[in-house]
Amino acid sequence: MSSRKVDENSKNRQLDEFREDSKDQFMTTDQGVRVNHVDDSLKAGFRGPTLMEDFLFRERMTHFDHESIPERVVHARGSGAHGFFQPYNDSMKEFTKAKFLTDPNVKTPLFVRFSTVVGSRGSADTVRDVRGFATKFYTEEGNYDLVGNNIPVFFIQDSIKFPDLVHAIKPRPDHEMPQASAAHDTFWDFASLMPETTHMLMWVLSDRAIPRSFRMMEGFGVHTFRFINAAGKARFVKFHWRPLLGTHSLVWDEAQKLNGKDPDWLRRDLWEAIDMGDYPEFELAVQIVEEEDEFKFNFDLLDATKIIPEELVPLRPIGKMTLNRNPDNFFAETEQVAFHPGNLVPGIDVTNDPLLQGRLFSYVDTQINRFNSANFAEVPINRPVVPVHNGQGAGFMRQTINKGKVNYWPNSLAEGHPKLASEEEGAYVHHQEKVEGHKVRARSESFKDHFSQATLFWNSMTEPEKKHLVEAIHFELGKVETIAIRERMVANFNKVAPDLAQRAAEGLGIEVKPEMATETTGNFAKDKASEKISEGKS
Ligand code: HEM
Repeated sequence: MSSRKVDENSKNRQLDEFREDSKDQFMTTDQGVRVNHVDDSLKAGFRGPTLMEDFLFRERMTHFDHESIPERVVHARGSGAHGFFQPYNDSMKEFTKAKFLTDPNVKTPLFVRFSTVVGSRGSADTVRDVRGFATKFYTEEGNYDLVGNNIPVFFIQDSIKFPDLVHAIKPRPDHEMPQASAAHDTFWDFASLMPETTHMLMWVLSDRAIPRSFRMMEGFGVHTFRFINAAGKARFVKFHWRPLLGTHSLVWDEAQKLNGKDPDWLRRDLWEAIDMGDYPEFELAVQIVEEEDEFKFNFDLLDATKIIPEELVPLRPIGKMTLNRNPDNFFAETEQVAFHPGNLVPGIDVTNDPLLQGRLFSYVDTQINRFNSANFAEVPINRPVVPVHNGQGAGFMRQTINKGKVNYWPNSLAEGHPKLASEEEGAYVHHQEKVEGHKVRARSESFKDHFSQATLFWNSMTEPEKKHLVEAIHFELGKVETIAIRERMVANFNKVAPDLAQRAAEGLGIEVKPEMATETTGNFAKDKASEKISEGKS
């Protein structure tokens, strides 16, 4: 496997091969023909019409006309950085065979993209929103993507609700307002009818949702994943990034002023810090749960609206990420990078979390739309630093020129490679989890507690933090025109903590009433067949 050896600088060297050296060169057409004049189009006479034969004009204009690609459907605004990851020691060997997490001598090159979720590509940085924290590790076993957020839980439990969530939180379809803000009726209408959003809403309304800097922000894999060790033993794992500078937030007044004065606040801060050599550093840590302990918690490990409290399962540090180089070209790197939670390497696997399962479909699907091609894994920022042989050589914008007559398997005609690898030779082999059950549109009973962890979060706050959260409710829900929506939200807050509901209601012109402890609507429309099965009547 020596040909697969990669180090911290492998990606830089690979990117160098693609980088244009613009020093001391003549300007040319796309075809490499040198040009002497780019200020006037070719005309029939000084005051005559432009000629169709002007290939220089046509080429420059056509390229410009096609320069934009669709922005990401979520997380459109982002900032990227190159860096590397290095484990502190080999303590993870017991839990995973992923080499980049277990060999302290390996420095794995990586690319990180931080993002906001709701706003469009040109929106302001310091809005109240979730932040994306996506990392692509270019490992010697292929690319591994940890596509996380800065909040450890998510709004919904099942991915089938993601289009509804995003439709509700994005600007309204009729007038496309408001941009990059949750302060509108449609979002709170949806949220108030989906009590499973309550825990995440508490985080979004807290100071966590307005980070002071990307360098001072935590990251979370959110879902429960799996670690598999060399003996094939599986364990559950949750991923955490912890900034070595500590976690810091802006207060709302600062955030609003910065939105006006410098909408690029977070992007500029990251760029300038790296430019000055003040490299952002993050510790990767994990919570590990034995398979035998899967049902020992009062929540379901497959439910992405729940954390595993650190008092129950402490964090184990693995190693450190350092971001030490700004991208050279925003479009080629930060815009074209394509993350996918299904980009896994041996030693890491997924679980049946129904939110994660849907993500495994969604990312590649949307990227084919974004790039108008299935070949986006070939662009320099996405390309692994290890060789790729997959029998695929066609499709829009193919970059490599594959040799030979054989692009199928099995074959007896190929000279040399490709051949299949065994597990010992580094092949990815899925963990053999036993799965059986009835086909149902339903969720596990244990998913139905939507409030206990929201209460834990509220109780963990200091009084200034609580005050900020209540003020955020007044600001965001104060913009909601439909009184019934405000009431439903206060009813949900009442189930988190009566004092929270009381303080929220006071600024919203409504009263907390006992009957507000209402039924949950929306997500648990009854499926008769699944009810029967859960009652054992199948
Ligand atoms: C980006 C879908 C939940 C983190 C995206 C994109 C889609 C998507 C379509 C745009 C990707 C692109 O154009 O390249 C979904 C679906 C979800 C879901 C269907 C739930 C069912 C989550 C969760 C997290 C997350 C739970 C965090 C753990 C991210 C991040 C990005 C992203 C960080 C931006 C990646 C980048 O910087 O390019 N998601 N997402 N998403 N998602 Fe999700």
